[in-house]
Amino acid sequence: MGKKYDVVTIGDVCVDIMISGGDVEPEFNQKEKVIGNYVVDMGGSCTIFACQTAKLGLKTVVIGTAGCDIFGKLVIERLKEAGVDTRYIFEREDIKTGIGIALCKDRDRAILTYIGSIDALEFKDVPLEVISQAKHMHIGSYYLMNKIRPHFPELLNFAKQQGVSVSLDTNWDPNEKWTGEIENILQYVDVFFPNENELCAIMQEQNTEKALKKACEIIPLTIVKLGNEGSMFVDGGVIKRVKVIDVDVVDTVGAGDAFDAGFLYGWLNGMPVERCVELGNLCGSLSTTKGGGIQGQLWLHDLKRIFQDVYQKPM
Ligand SMILES: Nc1ncnc2c1ncn2[C@@H]1O[C@H](COP(=O)(O)OP(=O)(O)OP(=O)(O)O)[C@@H](O)[C@H]1O
Ligand SMILES: [Mg+2]
Repeated sequence: MGKKYDVVTIGDVCVDIMISGGDVEPEFNQKEKVIGNYVVDMGGSCTIFACQTAKLGLKTVVIGTAGCDIFGKLVIERLKEAGVDTRYIFEREDIKTGIGIALCKDRDRAILTYIGSIDALEFKDVPLEVISQAKHMHIGSYYLMNKIRPHFPELLNFAKQQGVSVSLDTNWDPNEKWTGEIENILQYVDVFFPNENELCAIMQEQNTEKALKKACEIIPLTIVKLGNEGSMFVDGGVIKRVKVIDVDVVDTVGAGDAFDAGFLYGWLNGMPVERCVELGNLCGSLSTTKGGGIQGQLWLHDLKRIFQDVYQKPM
């Protein structure tokens, strides 16, 4: 029996406002400063991920909540433009769409977040039939979803019973607690996508390679994202690394989410793991070439063309 969707994710619906150039450090005493530039665009790890899977041609649906405001409309509009099914994003009068305001200076960012719609979805409002209609479920922003997080063991147990495969990108834990709960879901995860710091924190190891081997004992398909160093994974007991291509980086917002999506495009199409990692790297790298999380994302035809250029063979 065919499934209606390739990918489902619970969305951390929000907007990113990125401020850069000039003196971006605010000063109290009502000082006014002039900044060089800003970008306003859809944010949210899961929604950025969903845009990328949809652009690669995977049938993608997002479950979530949005405020009845212009930011909520912006998020839904951007998702639709990418081809994401947004009918399960519930617009609510009683909440505001979340925002992340990032002050960008050199390679660093200071971020102020208003949670709002990011963590407004209640477990009772999750349409379970949508999850069972998908081939794959992706979890992002695990540590930001306080309402849903305690229910993930139940939700993932259900998903697995319905033949849904699962990937996890925890992203950063703002409380830096890391462990205590995540152990209850790792058994359901088929693909784990931490970056280096997240992996070491979750595995309670200083050394990345040791942490990776430890993670692989639980989730053999653990792929570690290493920023401009690319990524690494374990293949037949041996650690392999895949480098990135040279790009002009504007900002790295959403690079990890684009990586996850590129990898899963390959994996859900039955490609070998190394190829999947290469696709992840290409999607991650190219996403850094434009401001914000989604403008630099590749469509499937771009990915095929760039893959051919880089690897001198068809994807
Ligand atoms: N400076 C860069 N140059 C080229 N490619 C990059 C760069 N930064 C990131 N990438 C690509 O994006 C992928 C994911 O980036 P990163 O390691 O920053 O993940 P992350 O920490 O999960 O990101 P995010 O901030 O989206 O959560 C990398 O594996 C790499 O392929
Ligand atoms: Mg990340």
